[in-house]
Amino acid sequence: MIRLFLAPIAGITKSPFRKLIGRDNVIDYAYTEMISGVALYHLDPKALSLIDIAPDESSVGVQLVGGDPVKMAEGAKIAERWGASSIDINMGCPARKILKSDGGAKLLLDLDRALKVFSKVREAVTIPVSVKLRKGWRGRETFLELSKVLEREGVSWITLHARYVEDGSEGPVDWGSIRRLKEEISVPVIGNGGVNKAEDALAMVEFTKCDGVMLASGVLRNPFLPRQIRELESKGYYTKESSLDRINWLLDFCHEVKSLYGDDKGAKYVKAIIPWILRDMSSSSWLRGYILRLGSLSSMMEVLVSVKSKMGRGE
Ligand SMILES: Cc1cc2nc3c(=O)[nH]c(=O)nc-3n(C[C@H](O)[C@H](O)[C@H](O)COP(=O)(O)O)c2cc1C
Repeated sequence: MIRLFLAPIAGITKSPFRKLIGRDNVIDYAYTEMISGVALYHLDPKALSLIDIAPDESSVGVQLVGGDPVKMAEGAKIAERWGASSIDINMGCPARKILKSDGGAKLLLDLDRALKVFSKVREAVTIPVSVKLRKGWRGRETFLELSKVLEREGVSWITLHARYVEDGSEGPVDWGSIRRLKEEISVPVIGNGGVNKAEDALAMVEFTKCDGVMLASGVLRNPFLPRQIRELESKGYYTKESSLDRINWLLDFCHEVKSLYGDDKGAKYVKAIIPWILRDMSSSSWLRGYILRLGSLSSMMEVLVSVKSKMGRGE
């Protein structure tokens, strides 16, 4: 069975999303969204609230982002106390604000700092420390050099997002880089980038020989992707999701979110996900637009229930 990882996704991979995507144990390991190590160091309540590991969640890594070794280490200690199974260090985020703080993808250009951040965090905690990085910047491909140093310093596993920083999350993916990394280091390598359908996960493992596959936007666009991968692995085929499945999934998600965050805060969170889940559903742009204008979760759920009953009647 392929080891499946649910990626850290800002604004999305909070506990209700992790819980629903991981239903029936289809996911082996999940992450929180990235959290600023500096904000944790300052005990910022919003940052602390992002370490939202539920008592019934067992394998959740907390992803930290930042370029200050000492503050990242303090942040890691807090995350460990708050239930993290591991700490992941973000070395790939291209957001301007993160680059300005010397964190994320900036660390791919400053290997000394990257190593200091990693070593300080590793010394600070007893749980495994992993790193998620990219190939590098165009003209400065540093993933191999950096990974070898991290391996020597005791990294537990490395996730390689097989794109250049400049390519964001949708540019061309180069699974050849994952294959090269797997050939060159002996710690587990998790492949990431461009797994959008079940066949892609199997093809990535076959081509790269990676030790696990990390799912990100593929799961946002199709929350049934992990289940479909499991089906394909075990039976050789899988059932495609229907529009009704998507609406039912959204309703389940709304219920989870409402019980945890309430109507108003919950609405904001669900609105971050709706455009993704409805994106590949035929004639859904009106529904997307309509729901995004609503103010409360209850009103969104009413609309989804009425869409569902129309679908049931074949309208
Ligand atoms: C909306 C969004 C938010 C993301 N947030 C994070 C994040 O918090 N930390 C991180 O390491 N990567 C983040 N990523 C990158 C993904 O984890 C993943 O590396 C990237 O989307 C490539 O995988 P994919 O091609 O399967 O989508 C984010 C991507 C998207 C689309």
